[in-house]
Amino acid sequence: MTSLFRLTTALAGLAAMATGAIAEDLTIVHGSVGRDQEVLRKQLDAFEAETGHTVTIVSMPESTTDQFGQYRLWLAAQSADIDVYRLDVIWAPQLASHFIDLGPHVADIVDDFVPAAIESQTVDGKLVALPMFLGAPALYYRSDLLDQYGEAVPTTWQELTDTAGRIMAAERAAGNDGMFGFVFQGAAYEGLTCNAQEWIHSSGGGRIVEIDGAIEINNQAAADALSLAASWVGTIAPEGVLNYKEEDARGVFQSGNAVFMRNWNYAYALAAGEDSPVRGKFGVSILPAGPGGQSTATLGGWHLGVSRYSEHPEEAIELVRFLNNYENQKERAIVTSRPPTLNAVYADPDVAAEQEFIPLWKPVVDNALPRPSAATLRKYNEVSAAFWTAAHDTMSGNGTAEENLARLEGELRRLRGSGW
Ligand code: GLC
Repeated sequence: MTSLFRLTTALAGLAAMATGAIAEDLTIVHGSVGRDQEVLRKQLDAFEAETGHTVTIVSMPESTTDQFGQYRLWLAAQSADIDVYRLDVIWAPQLASHFIDLGPHVADIVDDFVPAAIESQTVDGKLVALPMFLGAPALYYRSDLLDQYGEAVPTTWQELTDTAGRIMAAERAAGNDGMFGFVFQGAAYEGLTCNAQEWIHSSGGGRIVEIDGAIEINNQAAADALSLAASWVGTIAPEGVLNYKEEDARGVFQSGNAVFMRNWNYAYALAAGEDSPVRGKFGVSILPAGPGGQSTATLGGWHLGVSRYSEHPEEAIELVRFLNNYENQKERAIVTSRPPTLNAVYADPDVAAEQEFIPLWKPVVDNALPRPSAATLRKYNEVSAAFWTAAHDTMSGNGTAEENLARLEGELRRLRGSGW
């Protein structure tokens, strides 16, 4: 921090005190992927200068599954150390009781937000978190390589398998030993739940748990989709994909070593960045579909909730509103290519000019498929863990897709008991 900045911040603090407001020290807990935290810190600096409060970031590991474990510990201990949590879109039903109802505090702005985003964070009429940004993954492809080899962007998983295999083989024959066909998130964590839900749903295999709570995942379309995915490991995808999370996949694609990648929106701004080896050499498309299905993008996103155990709830609410205001959402959309949660930002001409991915992706975001966290309520994390384990086992050669889905069905029935 420059001394000039420190002085400005101190003066703002004095100004706040002169008006009777007290400068508080707030803490926000936030995961670290791509440039998220760099933009957050810049916006927090502006908040500090404006209000006189200070805000510390507690940085979390990349995996949402690891974050959930840590959040649960803090919340169960009713810790006052964290005021604002950045929450994954799936957690509202499970963590609702630990957060204050933001509804009454955002009544003046709530209609400006994407309605489905607000709905995803509303549990029994309580607004658990104010939506910060959404997510709907894309198929990233190397347009230069597709052109060079006269190949089309694949629209089915089988086409992706075949095209990836052909280009990978040709590149390797030409001496490019590090080339792979497809990278995605194959580690045993929530990210694999998102990927595998897409393979299965887009093949007509349904959702993991249907909206009405029904368990129909043990079906042939789902088994075929998982079997095809298992065939990628060690062929078009590296063996290591079984440990890949978002940033691992991006690292391979962005360094020029993969023809295709499944990833969230944040990867676009980074892969298009000035220092990116694939800048100008890639495009995005909707994810492929399987036989009998339609392209499916899992709904992602992260939202800001105020802890019930915060000692500064008023200031924390002010912070949540600030981080989600128009200017800050616009900056995030442009710098990090994260889809905003304010409707109007999608139509902003500067966003269109500087980050074309945002308006282009609006229909995909609008049609993204939620995971069954609303259907399975407090049991979602266990449901998801059982699902990603079935997918991971299949891809590791630990049982066939049919065997693992039959076992999954039994586990889901046991978890459901007499009701979700
Ligand atoms: C992204 C999504 C989030 C999802 C996670 C899985 O961060 O926004 O919703 O759970 O990826 O890895």
